[in-house]
Amino acid sequence: MLLKMENIGKIYESKYQRCIALEEISLEVGVNEFIIIMGPSGCGKTTLLNILGLITSPTSGKYTIRDELVNNMSFKKKANLRNNLFGYLLQDFALIENDTVINNILLPMKYSDKKFLLKTKEERAKGLASSAGINTKLNQKVKNLSVGQRQRVAFCRALINMPKIILADEPTGSLDSQNSEELIKNLLEFHKRGNSVIMVTHNLEYANIGSRLITMKDGHIEY
Ligand SMILES: Nc1ncnc2c1ncn2[C@@H]1O[C@H](COP(=O)(O)OP(=O)(O)O)[C@@H](O)[C@H]1O
Ligand SMILES: [Mg+2]
Repeated sequence: MLLKMENIGKIYESKYQRCIALEEISLEVGVNEFIIIMGPSGCGKTTLLNILGLITSPTSGKYTIRDELVNNMSFKKKANLRNNLFGYLLQDFALIENDTVINNILLPMKYSDKKFLLKTKEERAKGLASSAGINTKLNQKVKNLSVGQRQRVAFCRALINMPKIILADEPTGSLDSQNSEELIKNLLEFHKRGNSVIMVTHNLEYANIGSRLITMKDGHIEY
């Protein structure tokens, strides 16, 4: 199994507050799946994606990636998986506004231990930008781009390290319908090439575009 969660729980705790964000989540994700996650705001969708993508640690339960327990992994191994297994489309894309398109696309490569030459990296970024139709924008700052162009930058950035899984957190949340469709089309193509996608969405139109739909409520998987 590619990803496997068993009884995963997450409690956010501070001096004054204790919030149970996830409780007893069991989930298996195979190679070449397209999983849609839906559920009301605050039910734990982002927390779940962040645990899957090794951005946050669970407070209980077992999480294994390719049969290896995440808890036992070295810092380096986790960093490696973060950079090479997963591509991220974060909420509102989290682009670096004041930097150029090319630097935004190349950002995940800075942390990758794949030893590409700078020239190779740039070639790859340019190739992606070209397929996305933003090759004339490479040296522009992201803050000067349209919503549609930003969406494409985010997608190129997610693909730069050739991930096997894209984790997408409400990726169409701030997009008009045309850009939403384009992004979904790209995700479907990524899936068709043999990869996996896990996408959180509120859009009912996308409930059934994947191979599986998961509905969450109050930190649980409902069905
Ligand atoms: N960093 C945090 N610190 C404290 N509580 C948090 C934090 N992140 C999320 N939460 C809480 O955990 C619950 C689940 O949040 P989240 O995973 O963001 O849900 P969703 O993405 O479904 O809206 C919410 O009650 C939220 O307030
Ligand atoms: Mg969220």
